Amino acid sequence: MSELLRLNNISVHFSGLKALTDVSFSASPGEVKALIGPNGAGKTTLFNVISGYVPPTSGEVYFKGQEIQGLTPHQISARGVRRTFQNGGLFGEMTVLENILTGMHVQINSHFLGLLFGTRKADEEEKAAAARAMRLLTLMDMAEFADQQVKSLSGGQQRMVEIVRTISTEPPLLLLDEPAVGLSPPMRTRMMEVIKRLAGEEGISILLIEHAIDLVMAGSDRIVVLCAGQNIAEGKPAEIRENREVLEAYLGYA
Ligand SMILES: Nc1ncnc2c1ncn2[C@@H]1O[C@H](COP(=O)(O)OP(=O)(O)O)[C@@H](O)[C@H]1O
Ligand SMILES: [Mg+2]
Repeated sequence: MSELLRLNNISVHFSGLKALTDVSFSASPGEVKALIGPNGAGKTTLFNVISGYVPPTSGEVYFKGQEIQGLTPHQISARGVRRTFQNGGLFGEMTVLENILTGMHVQINSHFLGLLFGTRKADEEEKAAAARAMRLLTLMDMAEFADQQVKSLSGGQQRMVEIVRTISTEPPLLLLDEPAVGLSPPMRTRMMEVIKRLAGEEGISILLIEHAIDLVMAGSDRIVVLCAGQNIAEGKPAEIRENREVLEAYLGYA
């Protein structure tokens, strides 16, 4: 499947304010697509539309070929569209690994088959879950912290844990709203590398809102530029860099 997500002419009006106007684009599995644009461009609103927190005034959102606008955030999340939140609700007293397993248990326990197979099967599932959690932590260079309490980690490391917890349930689509904000420069670079690896090795489609243009240029496959609620450009990083309209509108120089 080449198209996982498709937005068709999405508009959002907040009592007269046009936050989004006719925004269309698609996202494919294994692709990192960055959403950039000045403050107030409508980036977060677009995430809210995709994840069901804001109904579009007009337009359609297709996920795996089915319309999802109008579904609740919970229903959309259950279909595999996940996002991280600023305050992700990690448990500080618990270890990194326990936090991730807690996230995965939600899925395991609610799974009907889990009930049918009884305890023996549950043990196996727990082992498989722990193995998967460790693999993801290794992928993110975080394996050495698995047995440390979350509260002992830096803010950036905690955000990494939150991302691992979110992806541990294997969502096909992950929405990240400024995951690198407030991180140290080395941690920001590492965050982008990890995002790229996740898309490549896990086949997850990642939509990323990020302000630092250098990180976006280095870490994304394609870039969508929003300006005043409109999609003014889309292309590979090199193409966006060459685009005069984008340089003027977004980067602030001609
Ligand atoms: N729930 C809301 N009610 C009214 N206006 C909103 C709401 N959410 C966002 N806006 C407005 O929509 C515009 C786009 O905001 P936002 O999507 O947060 O932009 P960005 O994330 O690109 O900075 C802004 O003018 C903002 O004030
Ligand atoms: Mg925003």
